[in-house]
Amino acid sequence: MSAVRTRTLEEYHADYQQSVEDPDAFWAAAAEPFTWYKKWDTVRGGDFSPGGTSTWYAGAQLNLTENCLDRHLEQRANKLAIIYEPNDPKTRHSRLTYRELHEQVCQFANVLKKNGVRKGDRVALYVPMVPLLAVAVLACARMGAVHSVVFAGFSASAIADRINDAEATCVITADGLNRGAKQIPVKSVVDEALASCPSVQRVIVIEHTGWPVDMQPGRDVWYHEEVQDVEKTCAPEPMAAEDPLFILYTSGSTGKPKGVVHTQAGYMVWADYTFRNVFQVEENDVHWCTADIGWVTGHTYGVYGPLLAGATTLLFEGVPTYPSPGRFWEVIDKHHVTIFYTAPTAIRSLMAHSVDHVLAYSLSSLRVLGSVGEPINEEAWHWYDQHVGKGRCPIVDTWWQTETGGIMISALAGITPSVPARAGLPLPGVQPVLLNQDGSEIEGNDQEGYLAIKASWPGVIRTTWGDHERARQTYFTPYPGYYFTGDGARRDENGLYRIIGRVDDVINVSGHRFGTAEIENAINQSDYVVESAVVGYPHDVKGQGIYAYVICHNGVPTTDLDNQRTEASIVEAVVAAIGRIAKPDKIQLVSGLPKTRSGKIMRRILRKVAEGETQALGDTTTLLDPAVVDEIVAGRK
Ligand code: WT7
Repeated sequence: MSAVRTRTLEEYHADYQQSVEDPDAFWAAAAEPFTWYKKWDTVRGGDFSPGGTSTWYAGAQLNLTENCLDRHLEQRANKLAIIYEPNDPKTRHSRLTYRELHEQVCQFANVLKKNGVRKGDRVALYVPMVPLLAVAVLACARMGAVHSVVFAGFSASAIADRINDAEATCVITADGLNRGAKQIPVKSVVDEALASCPSVQRVIVIEHTGWPVDMQPGRDVWYHEEVQDVEKTCAPEPMAAEDPLFILYTSGSTGKPKGVVHTQAGYMVWADYTFRNVFQVEENDVHWCTADIGWVTGHTYGVYGPLLAGATTLLFEGVPTYPSPGRFWEVIDKHHVTIFYTAPTAIRSLMAHSVDHVLAYSLSSLRVLGSVGEPINEEAWHWYDQHVGKGRCPIVDTWWQTETGGIMISALAGITPSVPARAGLPLPGVQPVLLNQDGSEIEGNDQEGYLAIKASWPGVIRTTWGDHERARQTYFTPYPGYYFTGDGARRDENGLYRIIGRVDDVINVSGHRFGTAEIENAINQSDYVVESAVVGYPHDVKGQGIYAYVICHNGVPTTDLDNQRTEASIVEAVVAAIGRIAKPDKIQLVSGLPKTRSGKIMRRILRKVAEGETQALGDTTTLLDPAVVDEIVAGRK
């Protein structure tokens, strides 16, 4: 494996220091092992102050799949690249060696070209977690198209928004999807979306479930037919370092999700560097990241990171509790998984079942455990450590974001401290700071503030697709000179970071981000609704739940039937606009919302009520109508 590998605590301190004092040398060394068609002119360019644009390895030319695939063929051609475990354990699993994956990626890239996709075009993917999803993602990278994966759980309307924002010309989808006991006819969801997507000329359909689908002549083609007569090789397209690699939509504090853009060279170096160092990857590791490729975690640690490192990655189509709450552990034993990377919400959902489901498996192959997406509470940390890791596997609690491309703050497995409820120390190359509201840096330990990053790193977001001003405003304007994370954090007495949570109007539900405005817009689509306000509240399994306060045209319903009908309509509106994943957990129908005289909703009060802290509502005298607060408290769900 490649260079820049921190193996001891002493090395950590030395590497950290070098990364700060001589970042050019540090990041040149990290990039050295890759295949470059042309080396870079400058390692780092730009900074966070003026326009919020960094460049990394500018002037270089490369292809990511050359580095994920071709580069390994000499040494690892017959090594497993992908192990695929299907939703139903009775269906056979499958495996792809590096040689086979290379061939499939070349073929898929040729199918894209044959279907009119050119370098720089945007390709949207709405595909279940099957090996061909990874193949399709890599095929885009091979021939220079920009992939935009949309989690196959979002609604038709959400897909359409994403396709239109990126003006995608091609969509890759499948006939259907099984996720646990659920079945989703993904092709028909895409068909519904495409009714309002004029840019799309071609739909490539992967056969997976065998369910019947409507194929629109002239627009839709089957992948298995297209692949029949294409070449098995495809020369990798030389890409410039800062050409876009992918767009991934994520929620912010405004209504419309934004397309986070990552580029070729910096993302590659960052994915490889963070993967190998955080998990301390060795040649024979089998790495299982349970996140769907529809999220950034699946991009960086399900596909790119492991393949860049020449490791074996396991892709799982299913869910933790299907067909039983022992499924994760069964899969770990079956495929001898050595590194297991999942989300606190999954752990908490499994903790709710008997521990016998875990104890039934040996889990002796496991070496490292990871957590991502939200703070892991101490109880879940200890359960994970004791029952899954058997007290002998370091846990890495990895803090990062879609915008950071890869892990920023985390223990390096077995090397830097791993303490419950602490993400830990920053990786060498990452310079976190805590800021006061006025933007001044808070010095010393045992302090709390807004979490920001002081210097650029190779995986930093480059822009928001089609709207650079938005990236500038969101990340680089709140505290000039810094990348602003949107999180609050505490640096403990030992300098370890603890992430407290979002300080903006973003809710983190089961590790997935939703903007409160985004959910409110969706709720307001219901014919019953006049106005709504959404807040997060602590939820035992999901981390945060969605609590919606809603004003309806006919006031607060007086009969159960009316109430049910209204709530059903609200839920339906959210499912239609975003998807089932954003369904409110609690809906309270109210006659008014607590507003200031200037008409601003006082969310502080709504949050307190949702949290059950009705005794400590603070000053309500500046409200236009303090009486609504009493009504809201009385009707709390
Ligand atoms: C937000 C980013 C990172 C990939 C998955 C989520 C929260 C993420 C942790 C962690 C505490 C965490 C933050 C962050 N978050 N990891 N280990 N401890 N909080 O990516 O959807 O872009 O969400 O997730 O609030 O800002 P995302």
